[in-house]
Amino acid sequence: MESDDLTSFPATFPTTRMRRLRHLPAVRALVQEFQVSASKLILPLFICSGTKVRKPIASMPGHAQISIDQLHEELTEIQALGIGGVMLFGIPAEKDAKGCDSLNSDGIIQQALRAAKVAAPDILVISDVCFCEYTDHGHCGVLSETTGQMDVDNDATRELLARQALSHAEAGADMVAPSGMIDGMVGAIRGGLDDGGYPHVPIMSYAAKYASSFYGPFRDAVESAPSSGDRRSHQMDPAVSAGQALREVALDLAEGADIVMIKPALAYLDVITKVKDRFPGVPLAAYNVSGEYSMIQAAAEQGWIDHRAVTLEMLIAMHRAGANLIVTYAAKDVARWAAE
Ligand code: PBG
Repeated sequence: MESDDLTSFPATFPTTRMRRLRHLPAVRALVQEFQVSASKLILPLFICSGTKVRKPIASMPGHAQISIDQLHEELTEIQALGIGGVMLFGIPAEKDAKGCDSLNSDGIIQQALRAAKVAAPDILVISDVCFCEYTDHGHCGVLSETTGQMDVDNDATRELLARQALSHAEAGADMVAPSGMIDGMVGAIRGGLDDGGYPHVPIMSYAAKYASSFYGPFRDAVESAPSSGDRRSHQMDPAVSAGQALREVALDLAEGADIVMIKPALAYLDVITKVKDRFPGVPLAAYNVSGEYSMIQAAAEQGWIDHRAVTLEMLIAMHRAGANLIVTYAAKDVARWAAE
């Protein structure tokens, strides 16, 4: 008998009754394998300039741009909730073509990182490493026409990303998360951190990031919608099979990535599973992106779905697919539900 012959192993009905394991709640609990725990979730935070700012993001209910002075209160709450960490995104007061603020030791993200480490030294603080939040054109790096068309200049951006990541580490980032899908970015950042005295700072690489319409609300949040064009010359095509994601992950690992991320998550569970199967020893993160969050918020506000049940089911699906940790805007909700 073939062990994968599911109809004859171990026996058929009525010897086998699948419902036996579902009959008692206690047995169901015993055989359950996946749990959503706040400690495995990372909460993104949007940091803007000014003081006493708490500017709600219309398309992301429950989230706001906050100024640096709000970080103490925010991080104290996050720590009390037992959330695994935060991921900081900076929104500078002034954007320019090169995203200079992101390289400045007094830039918005550097100030925020320093303040976060003072406000809550024990919280894991991850910084997003990219240029789209900082450039006036909203693209993920410097633009040039070296390829014959106006596009993000790969190798110039790669060098700048290494500088940006180093300045984040100098400001106190516990981990850096490059999100730009620039070829060679992980290797450049690893080299920059190692040479700069930060060989211990891990890289969580957005290894397989798709050119997705699910990022819409995020681009409102950080005001980073590209002023023209899109990101399809560097982010992945959703219509390509997961093999390409495996190549991306293999390259990032070879360049020194410590954790790899798949983004978005919900429409890419097949990619998560295939990466986990192929690289079982590598910590795998899923980014439950803004559009995934906002869809649930909107439907729940209408009373069309159960907010809590659907959120937890979605996060369980990501774990079941193979994600070890999840970046999610629902982290506080999950922690509060667990505490109830
Ligand atoms: C780029 C970045 C993006 C997101 C995280 N990092 C946007 C993009 O690629 O356009 C999207 C996250 C989300 O939608 O929640 N710095």
